[in-house]
Amino acid sequence: MLNPNVHYGDLQESYLFYNIGQKVQAYLDAHPGAKLYRMGIGDVSLPLCDTVIKALHEAVDDQAVKERFHGYMPECGAPFLREAIAAHYARRGVELDADEVFVSSGASDELGDILDLFSRDAAALVMEPAYPAYVDANVMAGRRIVHLAAGKENGFLPAPDNSLDADIFYICSPNNPTGAVFSREQLQAWVDFANHKGAVILFDAAYEAFIEEPGLPHSIFELEGARTCAIEICSLSKTAGFTGTRLGYTILPKTLECGGMSLYAMWVRNRTTKTNGVSYILQKGGAAVFTKEGQRQVMANLQVYKNNAKILMRAMEELGIWYCGGKNAPYIWLKCPGGMDSWQFFDHLLNEIQVVGTPGEGFGACGKGYFRFSTFGSPEDTEEAAKRLVALLK
Ligand code: MLT
Repeated sequence: MLNPNVHYGDLQESYLFYNIGQKVQAYLDAHPGAKLYRMGIGDVSLPLCDTVIKALHEAVDDQAVKERFHGYMPECGAPFLREAIAAHYARRGVELDADEVFVSSGASDELGDILDLFSRDAAALVMEPAYPAYVDANVMAGRRIVHLAAGKENGFLPAPDNSLDADIFYICSPNNPTGAVFSREQLQAWVDFANHKGAVILFDAAYEAFIEEPGLPHSIFELEGARTCAIEICSLSKTAGFTGTRLGYTILPKTLECGGMSLYAMWVRNRTTKTNGVSYILQKGGAAVFTKEGQRQVMANLQVYKNNAKILMRAMEELGIWYCGGKNAPYIWLKCPGGMDSWQFFDHLLNEIQVVGTPGEGFGACGKGYFRFSTFGSPEDTEEAAKRLVALLK
């Protein structure tokens, strides 16, 4: 008899953003035509920038011409995109071989797929509050999870300590959901700890482009020793508006080994078996992001989201609500007012002012009593949502 993967029974009943989507749909069914102010899931509201659109159009035209047509792409990524990404890192002082860059169809897919490299006996350390897919992907595989709770007292940036018994460490910096960013020294401590333990860090760099304070690390490979203990997973979703288009990349150094096996060789083997590569058209669009003009345009878009953050931060200050984030990350993490728990606050905002956020509890038990706003909405909606928040909570 075929047995199912019984570990699915250990998952929470539904995934956080799916759950929120259902609640929002139920509200819309009961209030047809209601206008919602969506600051829940971190989905972008601005279109792809002109340089990317032009490259996508040109690539579509290539597919119509025999001489320029592309069929299967190299499984690990087109050389033109791998080289463009390696050159982008080099401009920031990180030297990579272009073939240490693996093109992916997005960070969330990759964060799950990369686990193929590790034994099911390995334990995963998740610093919470955390993006819920880290936990879920490991629960599905039956792995033990070590939950490391962070809080206001350590600025949501926990430090390693010898009692932590885990093999895979998830680090997201700038952090989703808190917006906290590890300093070089703090991140170095994790790199040193991972090397000492023989653990591997999965570094989620999806929000690196939002860092505005100088001196904070954008890539884990800026740090000494990372090439023997880290994999960096990055995405063009938030940086360049590819949430729906789907494109990302992973940096896996050739020097990374585990139990005497080369994780690099294993990942090449994995990709060449399990994917036929990302489409030529998307990779052309992605390469345009790393041109000078592409960088200028994507940064101009990020500025719009950063202004949204300022609007929401002002509202929190006016209300005297404790918050963090919003500066180096597109999320604002706040304490629910009036002693409400995070789902109560979610319902209150949805029902009273049609504002959608994300309950902190969805990011782990220590997120209880907290709430997250995404700053990816339109400026008009953000402005109106801020007004409504102030009017409701003052
Ligand atoms: C979030 O809102 O946490 C993210 O947008 C979800 C994701 O990237 O999948």
